[in-house]
Amino acid sequence: MTIPPKPLPPTPVLETKRLILRPLVPADAPVIQRRFPHWEIVRYLNPRVPWPYPADGAIRFIETCQGEMARGEKHHWAIRLKDEPGELIGSINLWPDDGQSRDMRGFWLDPEFQGRGLMTEAADRVTDYAFHDLDWPHLWVSNAEPNRASARVKERQGARLVGFEPFRSVSGDGRRMVWLIEKEAWLARSTEASARPNIAADEAKRGE
Ligand SMILES: CC(C)(COP(=O)(O)OP(=O)(O)OC[C@H]1O[C@@H](n2cnc3c(N)ncnc32)[C@H](O)[C@@H]1OP(=O)(O)O)[C@@H](O)C(=O)NCCC(=O)NCCS
Repeated sequence: MTIPPKPLPPTPVLETKRLILRPLVPADAPVIQRRFPHWEIVRYLNPRVPWPYPADGAIRFIETCQGEMARGEKHHWAIRLKDEPGELIGSINLWPDDGQSRDMRGFWLDPEFQGRGLMTEAADRVTDYAFHDLDWPHLWVSNAEPNRASARVKERQGARLVGFEPFRSVSGDGRRMVWLIEKEAWLARSTEASARPNIAADEAKRGE
């Protein structure tokens, strides 16, 4: 018998250097409806994503998210730039280990904002939250095999590739890469990073 995971607390607001992550709200629907339904965003996602995307896709999605948040099943954050907090640019979510699916996080970002390290920044903050605030022992994460950008976020986070398994994405049948981030390794990595000398600052000092 699988023990149901403990309900999550209310979704908190999280900040990073450049980003603010807030719980998704119905007012985010028009921006999601505009930014999300593009092939380059949806192609490697789970086929639960309706495709072609219906006109009420975003508002229905947010209703589902709000139910999941109210029942403590999942966290869903809107990603906004601190410099332009008026508009959502992507989303990230997190849910407890169900003991089977080996997947506990999802994310997407508008292509206009990709390739600047923003999702790694958001994923790092959410990972810190999972280990420090929720005290989870590990985080399973996964991506469709051809999704190099998503795999790269995992690599940048120090996730360990555990294996490959059959997976159907919106694009069709293929494989997914399954990764594990363990709390102990994550905390050790964070300690190492804070102990590492600030090379840029040292170089600046030498140049004085
Ligand atoms: C996955 C995704 C969220 C990454 O967002 P991002 O903000 O661009 O991520 P980052 O900038 O933090 O890191 C992306 C890394 O992937 C690399 N990358 C991007 N596209 C790539 C490609 N086609 N091939 C190889 N590497 C690629 C980037 O160079 C970067 O690595 P680097 O910093 O070492 O150069 C974004 O591509 C996305 O929204 N994709 C569509 C939705 C999706 O697939 N979500 C994940 C489902 S598992």
